[in-house]
Amino acid sequence: MKIVQFHNMKNNTICAIPWRSNKLLYCAYVLAVFWFFMYNMEYSSHTYTKQTAEEVQRETSIWKYYSLPKNVVNPINGKFLIMNTYICERDDPYMLVIVPSKPDHIRIRNAIRKTYGTLSRDKNSYANNLKIEHIVRIIFVIGKSNNNSIDNATDTENDIFKDILKVDMIDSYQNLTRKMLHAFKWINLYCANVTYILKADEDVFVNIAMLLKQLKQNKPYYKGNIFGHIFNTDDHLQVQRENTKWGVKFNEYPLDKYPSYAQGTSYTLTRNLIDKIVNTSQFLPYLHIEDVFITGIISNKIHGAQLVQLNGTSNWGDSKPVPCYFVQSGRTAQTLMTHKLMYATWQAMQSYNETCQPKESQIAAR
Ligand SMILES: *[C@@H]1O[C@H](CO)[C@@H](O)[C@H](O)[C@H]1NC(C)=O
Ligand SMILES: *[C@@H]1O[C@H](CO)[C@@H](O)[C@H](O)[C@H]1NC(C)=O
Ligand SMILES: *[C@@H]1O[C@H](CO)[C@@H](O)[C@H](O)[C@H]1NC(C)=O
Ligand SMILES: *[C@@H]1O[C@H](CO)[C@@H](O)[C@H](O)[C@H]1NC(C)=O
Ligand SMILES: *[C@@H]1O[C@H](CO)[C@@H](O)[C@H](O)[C@H]1NC(C)=O
Ligand SMILES: *[C@@H]1O[C@H](CO)[C@@H](O)[C@H](O)[C@H]1NC(C)=O
Ligand SMILES: *[C@@H]1O[C@H](CO)[C@@H](O)[C@H](O)[C@H]1NC(C)=O
Repeated sequence: MKIVQFHNMKNNTICAIPWRSNKLLYCAYVLAVFWFFMYNMEYSSHTYTKQTAEEVQRETSIWKYYSLPKNVVNPINGKFLIMNTYICERDDPYMLVIVPSKPDHIRIRNAIRKTYGTLSRDKNSYANNLKIEHIVRIIFVIGKSNNNSIDNATDTENDIFKDILKVDMIDSYQNLTRKMLHAFKWINLYCANVTYILKADEDVFVNIAMLLKQLKQNKPYYKGNIFGHIFNTDDHLQVQRENTKWGVKFNEYPLDKYPSYAQGTSYTLTRNLIDKIVNTSQFLPYLHIEDVFITGIISNKIHGAQLVQLNGTSNWGDSKPVPCYFVQSGRTAQTLMTHKLMYATWQAMQSYNETCQPKESQIAAR
C-alpha cells in the first residue's frame, strides 16, 4: 500500500489512496470522517439540542404562569429605617445611582462619595474631558447587620452624608434581590421623576460621563431599556443547580436556562421599568440572582424591555483595574475596585497628563 499523502491529490487518488485498488479503505476512511463529524456535532451541541414538543409546552406554560401570576408571594413591605426622601424632591435628578452596600463597608462608600459619586452637572464636573450635563444623585442601600455597633455606625454615617437608604432586613447576598426591590419601591415613592436608574455594585467604578454619552445616543424603546453588559449566550444562561452562592433550586426557577439579561455589576434601567419590576416581582418565586431576576426574567422576558449592549461596561470576568488604562481606553465601568483603586482611577481621570504621561524630564533622561 502506498503511503498516504494528504497534500498531494491526483486525478484518480483521494488523499493519495488509489481509488480502484483500495475501495474498501476509502469507504472506511469516509465513514471514519463522517462518524468523527457526527460524534463531535452530538458532543458540542449538547446544550443546543432541539427541544422536544413536551419541553416546549412546559416552557411555554411556565412563562405563561410567570406573565400572568395570581397571588402575591413575596411582598415588598420591609420598613425603611432611613429614607432621605429629600434627595429627589430637592434636586430633581436625571439619573439616580443605586449602590447596594454592606453595612460595615464605610471605607468603600467614602471612596465612591469622593470619586465618581461627585459627578453631576451642579458640581460642574468633568470626566475624560466630557462635561456632565445632568444632575446625578447617589444612594447607598444597606440592610441591618447582626451587630448593634455597626448599625449605629451607619446611622451616624448617614447623619453626616445623608445618602443612605436603610431597609429593615438582614443584609446578606441571599437578600440582595429583596434589597434592590425595596430601593426600586423607594424610587416609585420618592424619586418618580428620574429618567435613568444606574445600579452599580460597591466594587464598581463608573465613568458617569461615558455612560451618559452612550445613553444619549440611544433611542428609547417604549417598553423600556436595560443598558449594560448583556449576557445572551448559552454558557452564561445555564442555570447552576449546585449548592453554591449562585446555585438555584427548581422551586426558585424551574427551567434550565435563564432569559438574556444584563450582568449585575452595573446596569442602567429606564424609569418606566421600575414600577413593573416592583409589581411583578411580588407575584413570582423569589430568586436571589438579582441581575437575572430583575433585568432578565422581569424586564426583558415578561415586560419585553430591550437589552442594549454598551461599550466598556463591567462584568465579573473583568481583569484587575489599571487606573490610567481605564481612563485612556474610555471605559464606562469596571468591577474589582478596591477603595485605593477608586482613588487612583479618580486621580487619573482628573489629571490624566500629570498622573499617566511620563514627565518631560523623565523622557529627556532616557
Ligand atoms: C461588632 O462590630 C464592632 C465594630 O466593627 C466590632 O468591634 C465588634 O467586635 C463586633 N461585635 C460582634 C459581636 O461581632
Ligand atoms: C446603639 O444605639 C442604640 C440607640 O441609640 C443604643 O441604645 C445602643 O446602646 C447602641 N449600641 C451600641 C453597641 O452602640
Ligand atoms: C433576609 O431578610 C429577612 C428580613 O430581615 C430575614 O428574615 C432573612 O433571614 C434574610 N435572609 C437571609 C438569607 O439572610
Ligand atoms: C415630579 O414632577 C412633578 C411635576 O413637575 C411634581 O409635581 C412632583 O412633585 C415630582 N415628584 C417627585 C417625587 O419629585
Ligand atoms: C460602541 O463602539 C462602537 C465601535 O467603536 C461604535 O460603533 C458604537 O456606536 C458604540 N456604541 C455605543 C452605544 O456608543
Ligand atoms: C401588578 O401586577 C399584576 C399581576 O401581574 C397585574 O394584574 C396588575 O395590573 C399590576 N398592577 C400595576 C399597577 O401595574
Ligand atoms: C495633555 O497632553 C496632551 C498631549 O500629550 C495635550 O494635547 C493636552 O492638551 C494635555 N492636557 C492638558 C489638560 O494639559
